[in-house]
Amino acid sequence: MMNGTQQAPVKTLLELMLLAGAIVLGDGAIQRPDYDDTSSPEFINSSWMAGIPDSLPLSEVNMPGTHNTMALHGGHIAECQSWALASQLRAGVRFLDIRVRHVKGNLTIHHGVSYQRAHFGHVLEGVVDFLNEYPTETVVMRLREEFSETYDIYGAVVNYIHRYAHWDLLWHSRQMPTMGQARGRLIVLQDFAGPDLGMRYRSLDIADNWSVPTLLHVAEKWQSVYEHLEAAPKGNKAQMFLTYASGAGVFTYPSAIAQRINRRLFDYLDAKMGQKQRIGIITMDYPAAPLLQMIIDFN
Ligand SMILES: *[C@@H]1O[C@H](CO)[C@@H](O)[C@H](O)[C@H]1NC(C)=O
Ligand SMILES: *[C@@H]1O[C@H](CO)[C@@H](O)[C@H](O)[C@H]1NC(C)=O
Ligand SMILES: *[C@@H]1O[C@H](CO)[C@@H](O)[C@H](O)[C@H]1NC(C)=O
Repeated sequence: MMNGTQQAPVKTLLELMLLAGAIVLGDGAIQRPDYDDTSSPEFINSSWMAGIPDSLPLSEVNMPGTHNTMALHGGHIAECQSWALASQLRAGVRFLDIRVRHVKGNLTIHHGVSYQRAHFGHVLEGVVDFLNEYPTETVVMRLREEFSETYDIYGAVVNYIHRYAHWDLLWHSRQMPTMGQARGRLIVLQDFAGPDLGMRYRSLDIADNWSVPTLLHVAEKWQSVYEHLEAAPKGNKAQMFLTYASGAGVFTYPSAIAQRINRRLFDYLDAKMGQKQRIGIITMDYPAAPLLQMIIDFN
């Protein structure tokens, strides 16, 4: 009797997940066309930028991105991604959101208080490896200091670049590069004080309504994503255009929001498919390969 009543909700949940079209894998991970929290993408597209004309300004290239790119550890509250950096890049992601913590000259990767078992050198090495293998590509990186001691990371960033990459890997200008100029390079969007290292993050047209207190606020979050994406074709083409589809809150996990927002994003883009229009950079939690490919196909 007890067992019977306890089992019923479990069955219902499984039924709901199957109805939702999810492929439920052994460990409870989900791989759908819009949302993927398994350990690797369904398919990859490592050199899609090869097809972008050299003369096109990078601000006119539509790109998929990840929010809190390195947030792979720390449980549901801290995790935003399930693919390692190398897999994200090979799947087609070209915008990275990197948050570093400065401790006595070291730049470690954290999401909030959760240490992500990596430092900025690992990120640079991953980008160097990828660009060596696929020189037609470029990587755009927002770099921000978070939960830190100093709020003065310029010198440490320069040291890491010399140590784990090389100076010429970077685009050292505030000017927007063309696709041709950007190939093989890391485009840092500097989200910290100090001398110029590259372009400034604050020069972008950004929608980052990240706060989604409860699942009842998902509709509101989607509305802000929708409005910004609708404005993309009319936006200033000389300026990069960035929309965060990700969100989190005290009573919601990034994965719970991504499961809902990514689906709406997928349907929205699907309805526009075939139109070669500007949608800019769309930054997501747990994107799936078909959703990345959909964004790529707007070019
Ligand atoms: C900084 O990084 C070096 C090399 O990885 C390590 O040996 C050292 O302990 C780190 N220092 C701090 C304060 O984390
Ligand atoms: C999104 O954020 C902007 C400013 O950051 C704010 O003006 C706007 O009202 C927000 N939109 C929603 C739907 O919360
Ligand atoms: C990668 O994306 C490009 C551009 O949309 C497309 O033409 C190509 O077929 C894709 N390649 C793979 C391997 O999916």
